[in-house]
Order: sequence, then structure tokens, then C-alpha cells
Amino acid sequence: SLIKCATVDAIASHLKNCKNVLVLTGAGISTSAGIPDFRTPGSGVYDNVQKYLDKYHLQSAQKLFSYELFQQDPEPFYALAREMKYPNANVKPTIAHHFIKLLSDKGVLLRNYTQNIDMLQSQTGIPDNKVFEVHGSFRSGTCMKCAAKLDKTQLKEAIFCGEVAKCMVSVEGNACGGVIKPDIVMFGEALPQDYLCTISKDEDKCDLLVVMGTSLQVAPVNKIPNSVPSSTPRLLINREKVCTNPETYTHMSAPLFFFDHPDNKTDVFMGGDIDSSLTELAKKLGWWEELEKMVGE
Ligand code: OAD
Repeated sequence: SLIKCATVDAIASHLKNCKNVLVLTGAGISTSAGIPDFRTPGSGVYDNVQKYLDKYHLQSAQKLFSYELFQQDPEPFYALAREMKYPNANVKPTIAHHFIKLLSDKGVLLRNYTQNIDMLQSQTGIPDNKVFEVHGSFRSGTCMKCAAKLDKTQLKEAIFCGEVAKCMVSVEGNACGGVIKPDIVMFGEALPQDYLCTISKDEDKCDLLVVMGTSLQVAPVNKIPNSVPSSTPRLLINREKVCTNPETYTHMSAPLFFFDHPDNKTDVFMGGDIDSSLTELAKKLGWWEELEKMVGE
């Protein structure tokens, strides 16, 4: 194993010699910026959409993010997007986003795979090729009829105009009229074309996996923890442990962490608030001053 015992100190000293840190993130790294996650009871999006489920006769909250529903009727998604203020203008990156940027500045970040569509990671000024937005983003939109593209500003205007956005491109003298779909990946849609090729190469190279702010309920990214080399240390920074119970996850062949296993030498868990955990980790690395400065700017 690359670390001798599964402790935060061991991870910190290992990190100093790492070249290829792979960071997998989810909605939990943006909650301290004021963006709700999906599955936290009470505050998560899925606990707060009952009115849409009633109004549009939907069986589950996930349906709001389903491509099938969007094709049938884009109004429920547009209504939710307006209420959620997607694409979250005026929101600032958190300590977690800056920590990932710092890994990149230090030359040790292989890549950040993020499930988030909030574009907060790129706001830190991290190079584009260091971030893979697995579920797309609100950076652009596409007409479902003629494939015309809208940029971020046009997409934002389209979402907040109060109606389902329709394509204005002129086709034989008339407006196309196709529905505009933000370039996010909905349930039932394919991931970006280069995902499989990029992740499989990165997994092989990865010498430390950091998973932060995700419940790992959604495939295929929840397979990443089990696809890195078996000797690679894995650090989970999350309010609660995830994927530790084989019984709960066998049906989806999801990853398993071994925090509490007596032979565990690779998996380390930092519980509680992500920003506090990263503050602690940065201090152990001697990086806190730098990180604090980035956060303050
Ligand atoms: P979830 O809401 O499922 O999980 C967020 C995790 O972050 C939970 O385990 C929280 O406890 C934890 N968390 C939240 N805030 C935290 C904080 N301040 N400190 C520590 N932990 C915190 O979000 P994701 O895993 O990102 O996909 O969800 C995955 C996908 O499901 C999303 O990309 C979206 C959703 O449906 C699509 O819509 C296609």
C-alpha cells in the first residue's frame, strides 16, 4: 500500500508526493455557497419539489431531471430551473473549489470529475482541461430541433423569460421554434462522448482519490472509487460515510469503502463539514495561508 495506515496524517504526507490526484465531487461542495444538494433530508432539492410533483403529476422528484419528461413537456424543468435560479449567478466558489484549484496550482491535480452543473469550479480560474463536468452545465444550450447553440447569457435570458425557451433561429423565413435544452445531462441521457476514454486513462494513473460531497448514488461516476488501482489511497470527505454497506449497494454494483474493516490500509474518512475538513487538511499540508488567500480574493 502507498500509505502505512489509514489516517488523515498519512494521507497528508502521501499527498505531498502525489503527482496524479483525482478528485470526484458532488453537490455537497457547493452547499456552503448556498446551493442546495439533492438528497440531504430537509434541505435537498428532492425534499422540496412536492408542489411540482403535485402540479405535473410526477411520481418522483428525480423525474424532474429526466430527459424523457423533458422531451414530453419541458415546462416542469423550466419552472424548477427558474425557482432554483439556475445557472446560479452571483454565487462564489467555496473552500472546496479553491482547494481543488490549489491542487492544480501545485501541479498534482490529474483531474476533477464533477457531477455539479453550477460552473463554480471554473470560476476559480482552474484550467478547463483539469475539470470534467460529467453532468454538463448551464454554460450553453442546444435547440432540440435544429441543434442551434445558445451561449450562457442567451440561455440565462431564455430560462428567466418566464416561458419554455424556444429557438429563434430563422429557418426558411420562420423562427425554428424548437425547445432549447440546457447542456446538462439529464437522467436517461448519455454522458459526454469522451467520458469513458478520459476516465479510464485517469483511473490507471491515479495515485490518490479524493471524493467530496457526493452520496455516490448515481452511475457511472459512482464506479470510479472501485476502478482506481487497489493500492491507491481513497479519501472520502463528506458529512456521512457513503457506500460502506454491501447489502445496500449490491443491486447497483456501487463502490464500497472499507473504513471500518480491520485490514483497511487505503480508505480514510473525514466526516462533518467539508470546508472544515479541508481547512484541517490544508493546515497539515502547510497550505492554509495560500488557501485562505485564494478564498478571500
Ligand atoms: P447528493 O445530494 O446526493 O449528495 C450530497 C452529499 O454531500 C450528501 O452525502 C451530503 O450529506 C453531503 N454534504 C452536503 N453538504 C455538505 C457539507 N457542507 N459538508 C459535508 N458534506 C456535505 O448530491 P450528488 O451526489 O452530487 O444528477 O448527486 C448526484 C447526482 O444526483 C446529481 O448530479 C444529480 C442528482 O440527481 C442529475 O440530475 C443527473
